[in-house]
Amino acid sequence: MQEKNVVPTLELLEKIEKEALLELSKISNNEEAESFRIKYLGKNGLLLHLIKGVKYLSEEQKRTIGAKANNLFRSIEEKFKQSPWKKQISQIIKETFDPTLPGFPFPFGSIHPLTKIRNKIRDIFLDMGFSVAYGPEIETSYYNFDALNFQPNHPAKDMQDTFFIKAEEILLRTHTSPVQIRVMLAQKPPIRCIMPGRVYRKEEVSSRSYCLFHQVEGLYVDTDVSFADLKGTLLSFAQQFFDTNTKIKIRPSFFPFTEPSVEIDVECFLCKGNGCSICKQSGWLEILGAGMVHPNVLSNCNIDPNKYTGFAFGMGIERIALLKYGIDDIRLFYENDIRLLKQL
Ligand code: PHE
Repeated sequence: MQEKNVVPTLELLEKIEKEALLELSKISNNEEAESFRIKYLGKNGLLLHLIKGVKYLSEEQKRTIGAKANNLFRSIEEKFKQSPWKKQISQIIKETFDPTLPGFPFPFGSIHPLTKIRNKIRDIFLDMGFSVAYGPEIETSYYNFDALNFQPNHPAKDMQDTFFIKAEEILLRTHTSPVQIRVMLAQKPPIRCIMPGRVYRKEEVSSRSYCLFHQVEGLYVDTDVSFADLKGTLLSFAQQFFDTNTKIKIRPSFFPFTEPSVEIDVECFLCKGNGCSICKQSGWLEILGAGMVHPNVLSNCNIDPNKYTGFAFGMGIERIALLKYGIDDIRLFYENDIRLLKQL
């Protein structure tokens, strides 16, 4: 069968037909079927060589033997196709591949839970007419402390353990409040913006605190901004973020850059104020610090405190995310364990 252009005769065709049919009947696996296909039906197979050999025949023979050779090819091909082993891979694929079946799931990334919370906070304030501003994470002591009315050597500086890059001068910002200063120096009132960002504190790493975390700062400065505006804005925020009926509680506090200063709690959204393990049975969750912008801070930014007033607030994104997702270890947010991220 390897010879090229075998000149066909009727006897040869008959003999080959018999042999082929016998071999076909004995095929018992796919490899044998493939060898059969190559031997008889392939491009270099016996039957095509016979057909090509027809050109050496007389015109008379061409009509009879030629036609027989062609028929033989077609009939063997047909029988081969009908044999249970005939299928070539491409045909198997054609018959069994269903292009309408859904594909294998492709693992997509997802938005990090902290980013989700940040975006939700941002969108609520954007709706209220606030814009978004950013500032550097490496700050000077002036923006991080002094301009914010921290007195030199004032114990208030100890409130926030600082990573200094250059002793007492350049540091990793400990809060987003220095961005308030940058915004007030760059813009004249009315100012209404939020300032999300990453902050750093030299704290012992534990389930409750980490050396870095994220805050969203807010600032509203205009003529006649009152404490009632602060209350109304933050109540509206809490009700949009947590639940339309959420109550807030305002407690006195202290920050050098606000006077009066307050801390705001929201009614625990899990137990609705009845007391549970998340709110430590108190019914309330502390979510942010706030207050009226201290007149010294306005003056430091060349804004006349006799003409303008303002309120500011700052909240920790991790804290809100821990509460919202009922997670008990802040470090989980930075480990990027896909098993956790997938659930949030
Ligand atoms: N900067 C304060 C903190 O990090 C939060 C705050 C911001 C308080 C603005 C009052 C006003 O704790």
